Amino acid sequence: MTFDRSIKIAPSILSADFADFGREIQAIEAEGADWVHVDVMDGHFVPNLTFGPPAVKAFRPHVKTFMDVHLMIAPVDPYIEAYAEAGADMITAHVEAGPHPHRTLQAIRATGRKAGIALNPGTPASAVEYLLDLCDMVLVMSVNPGFGGQKFIPSAVEKVAQVRAMIGDRPIHIQVDGGVDPNTVGALAKAGADCFVAGSAVFRGGSVSNPAPYGENIRAIRAAAEAALAGEG
Ligand code: DX5
Ligand code: ZN
Repeated sequence: MTFDRSIKIAPSILSADFADFGREIQAIEAEGADWVHVDVMDGHFVPNLTFGPPAVKAFRPHVKTFMDVHLMIAPVDPYIEAYAEAGADMITAHVEAGPHPHRTLQAIRATGRKAGIALNPGTPASAVEYLLDLCDMVLVMSVNPGFGGQKFIPSAVEKVAQVRAMIGDRPIHIQVDGGVDPNTVGALAKAGADCFVAGSAVFRGGSVSNPAPYGENIRAIRAAAEAALAGEG
C-alpha cells in the first residue's frame, strides 16, 4: 500500500448493530468507507468491553478495504499476535498501556502489520517523539476512550498540529478518533490529520436495510474536511 495523505474516513463499528456486524461492514464499505475501525476494549484500560480475537476473525472476511484495529487494552503486548492472526491490517496500541511502547511497536511491526500508537486526551504529543520511526500512524484521541457518541475535546486540534510538525515528511498517518463529525473535522484536517474515525456521525439515521444515510454521512464528513483544506471551511 503506497503512502498518501488523502482524506480517509474510517467508520467505527462500535456504533453498528451488534447483532449484524457482517452486513454492517458490507454496508459501510458499499457506502464509501475507506477503512473499517474496530474498537477493542478490555474493561480495564477503558470502562467497556468489546471484541476478542475470535470476533475480529469473524469480521475479517467481510472487510474488503482495510481493517484498522484500535486496542484499548492493557497490557497490550500479550495480545498483539492474536489480533494480527485474526486479520488486522493496522494494530494501534495506546502509549499509556504500559511502560514499553517502543517494544510494543516493534512487536506489532514483527507481525508484518502496520503499527499505530494512540494518545489519550491528557497525554502530550511529546510522548511519541521517540516512537515515530517505529510507527505508520499516530492516533490522537478526541474523547476519553470507552464509548461512542461522546463530546469532542477541542484540544485535540492543537495536538494534531504538534504531531504533524514532529512527523515532518515521514510516511505516517495522523488519525483522530472521537466526536468527529462535519462540524469538527475541518479544523482537524487543517491541523494535519488525514484519517478520521467516526461512529455515531456515520451510523446515525441508517441501518443495514436503509444504508443510504451511511453514505450521506460519510460524504458530509469527507466534504467538510476537503472544504477546510481548500480554504473554504
Ligand atoms: C472510543 C472509540 C471511538 C468511538 C468513536 O473509545 O475509540 O472509535 O467508537 O465514536 P464517535 O465517533 O461516536 O465518537
Ligand atoms: Zn477507536
